Amino acid sequence: MSDKKILWGSASAAYQVEGAFDQDGKGPSIWDRWVKLPGKTFEGTNGDIATDHYHRFKEDVALMKEMGLEAYRFSISWPRLIPNGVGDVNQAGIDFYSQLIDTLIENKIEPVVTLYHWDLPAALQDKYKGWLSRDIVADFTQYADLCFKHFGGRVKYWIILNEPNIFTSLGYILAMHPPGHVDQKEYLQAYHNTALVHASVVKSFKEKNIPGMIGSSIAYTPGYAVSEEHWDKEAQYKYYQTVNWWHCDSYYKGSYPQWAMDHFKQLGILPEITSEDLELMAYAAKHADFIGINYYQSTTLAYNPIDGATMEKFNTDGVKGQFKESGIPGLYKNVYNPHIRYTDWDWAIDPDGLLYSLKELNDRYHKPLFISENGLGAFDVLENSEIHDCYRIDYLKEHIVRCKQSILEGVDLIAYCTWSFTDLLSWLNGFQKRYGFVYIDFLDPGLPRIKKDSFAFYQEVIRTNGDNCE
Ligand code: BG6
Repeated sequence: MSDKKILWGSASAAYQVEGAFDQDGKGPSIWDRWVKLPGKTFEGTNGDIATDHYHRFKEDVALMKEMGLEAYRFSISWPRLIPNGVGDVNQAGIDFYSQLIDTLIENKIEPVVTLYHWDLPAALQDKYKGWLSRDIVADFTQYADLCFKHFGGRVKYWIILNEPNIFTSLGYILAMHPPGHVDQKEYLQAYHNTALVHASVVKSFKEKNIPGMIGSSIAYTPGYAVSEEHWDKEAQYKYYQTVNWWHCDSYYKGSYPQWAMDHFKQLGILPEITSEDLELMAYAAKHADFIGINYYQSTTLAYNPIDGATMEKFNTDGVKGQFKESGIPGLYKNVYNPHIRYTDWDWAIDPDGLLYSLKELNDRYHKPLFISENGLGAFDVLENSEIHDCYRIDYLKEHIVRCKQSILEGVDLIAYCTWSFTDLLSWLNGFQKRYGFVYIDFLDPGLPRIKKDSFAFYQEVIRTNGDNCE
């Protein structure tokens, strides 16, 4: 096993843990609104209170310290800092994150800050349709600069955007996230604007000489061809062009893949991409310090005829066995893989896919890799104040072994964060889909925190730099 030291952490996101959704001057986000619309989330669950981390962060950090956690990745809520997205700053918001950062540092836990984990100020959605407008580039950069001004120096790791590929595809193709549209052209425009935001923030960070490292995190889903037949290999190629390389090249190469560009152009849905855009994107591709990767699953791809499978909404209630073929007619479809296991939410469990992804990204972009999320969403059973989550331990063990292996094979893996430290709100799946090392009893208004068996397991991972997973 490799001796290289990995930074061992765990992650969360503001909307999923903080609660206090309308307290101390915070403005509304698009998620505060979305969850109140009937039928948008599992049983209408929302993050109004969530885990109440806003009021109980000290207790949560104490548990992190007890575990020996080395890094805590959390996100800043833009509307908590700037209630209308631009303009007046909310001092209470600055104070909250400042205290959280100080508490982490006092406990020798590295703060890893995500600037955007999906909770866009609702005011910007109203003003210019949020991610569909290029105006977001200047406004986001100002918001990022505010964070650098107040937290720069104390924070060494910055993740600009969390999974821009997910919030744009679920927001503009699948209509499962706000703003709930189904429009491929809008999706491509919104995604291009995320690439410009990422690039503009990298530039500002570098020009201001803020100490530390910066990047963004893509949800990376490697895709295998279901067979060696050339039509399935072709489907795999088209998936990589229009999905994986589309998302990653724009951030980490500074350009879009050619076949996909031509394809979207032919369909008349390619967004305007100016030479200034490409210059800015090339700057960021050169200067971003790491690639953030959130890894949960792989996919398996097959030929999809022009009248074939379309994009399908997915399992949000945990009743296993709802897997449906879904895809883009004429390009590819995602099919069931009988060789791997699936979770109760029909997500493929594929640790080899993580190793494959790390090597693939390393070969293509030659940058340090930062795993900013990896974890298992499961039903946990609380019995006599204990939670025996051996399935989560197995999942993490198998993935950590692949991380160590990737280093032996030349990958510059710098950090690994699990999703998540405590249980939290799963955006579409409510509180029953749990990821944490710390169980939260959401049925008890006191929201008690209870350590699961995986807590001690990860404590040992940290102590041995992952050698207990061999
Ligand atoms: C990632 C997100 O997509 O996956 C997290 O960054 C999210 O915010 C996690 O919670 C797990 O997804 P889900 O849908 O199971 O909660």
